[in-house]
Amino acid sequence: MEFSKDFVWGAASSSYQTEGDREGRGDSIWDEFCERPGAIRNGETGEFACDGLRRYREDVHHLKQLGLTAYRFSISWPRIFPEGRGVPNQEGLAYYDRLIELLLKEGIVPHVTLYHWDLPLALEREGGWRNRDTALAFADFAGFMAQHFSDRVQHYCTLNEPQCFIGLGYGTGEHAPGATLKGSELFTCAANALLAHGLAVQAIREASTKSVQVGAASTGKLCYPLHNTVENQAAAEAASFQIDENEWWFSHTWFLDAILLGSLPPAMQALTDCIPSEDWETICQPLDFLGINVYNGIQVDENGDYVERITGYPRTSLKWPVTPQVMRYGLRWLYQRYHMPMYITENGQASNDRIYLDGKVHDLDRIDFLHRYLLELRDCCSEGVPIKGYFHWSLTDNFEWNNGYDERMGLIFVHYPTQRRIRKDSAEWYAGIVQSNGRLL
Ligand code: BGC
Repeated sequence: MEFSKDFVWGAASSSYQTEGDREGRGDSIWDEFCERPGAIRNGETGEFACDGLRRYREDVHHLKQLGLTAYRFSISWPRIFPEGRGVPNQEGLAYYDRLIELLLKEGIVPHVTLYHWDLPLALEREGGWRNRDTALAFADFAGFMAQHFSDRVQHYCTLNEPQCFIGLGYGTGEHAPGATLKGSELFTCAANALLAHGLAVQAIREASTKSVQVGAASTGKLCYPLHNTVENQAAAEAASFQIDENEWWFSHTWFLDAILLGSLPPAMQALTDCIPSEDWETICQPLDFLGINVYNGIQVDENGDYVERITGYPRTSLKWPVTPQVMRYGLRWLYQRYHMPMYITENGQASNDRIYLDGKVHDLDRIDFLHRYLLELRDCCSEGVPIKGYFHWSLTDNFEWNNGYDERMGLIFVHYPTQRRIRKDSAEWYAGIVQSNGRLL
């Protein structure tokens, strides 16, 4: 078996990174964070981004032309509830209605993420993720959206990468809102995110008329073995879920153990201490799939020690190492621990792509990256791990958070001054892979 017959091939984006149109919504924590001197490379912001709100038809047209059958995007919470709760903004709703109706007309399945980091600023003023009420407000928002979309949307991700919006947003301060909390203050934010997830799952299921598929998108450390021995594989598997004290938040363990296993390992006792015991039942809800965002992994030896990378190791423009083996092994470890069907909800690489003299964007490095990662993903599927689909991050170049616009991750190049879209070579290559359901790899 290679990729299953009904394997889903898609691409992904998020609201703040692509939509622009700041006037049409309430402010989010990213609007404020971007104004902080030095927070974002080149002082850039998501105010205009890719003007996706006005150019979504063109973007859906590209999805269609490339033969993609699914689109993962997120709903901007402050576009629907400018103050985080209260009266919904009808224009905001109408935008998502138009987008979804067009996708359905083109035969492209919408995969909706409800929180991709753009928390309404009004809620941050009340404490943001430090405040338990944010979890309750999120559940109301999630339930409202599920009811509104009714039978038009069947796939929901609650949270995107709590590892990052908690760890980078409230821990290291590299992401919005730029807080640098420590100890129990930071663990409380994580506990509130866990509660938000559980409450949202319940709210989505209650509000939906048709059967819905609900999951969450997780990221974190994954390890792969230096040698292909049983011992080294076991060491890589164990290391993947081990908590690194100073970077506990960058692990799948705290998030997925909590929401899927209903408990946390001893190394996360400090987080357990911040979770009221009566919350556990809510946090640990039955899910339909797991979304995994995979970019790179760490090689370990038989002792579980990290292997130093050779001098000149291949890296993307964000300096992330190219480690395709993480697809094969990391996903296997996740399946063995959580026994859940999975979507790769994000994978791709950053490059400083540019338009060549011939007017095209030749991104051979991205093709090589995807080729290597998809080969390993195929092997992972052949080994029996239930992978249901793959979403390339991202559909178009977009606002790469604190790294601004220099870092391009799209299949489609965006010339920001004119907002012109140009399909990169990788987009055409990916279309061929999609059409052959991976046989051309
Ligand atoms: C996030 C995306 C981001 C990508 C590349 C993921 O952590 O979900 O929003 O653009 O990685 O940094």
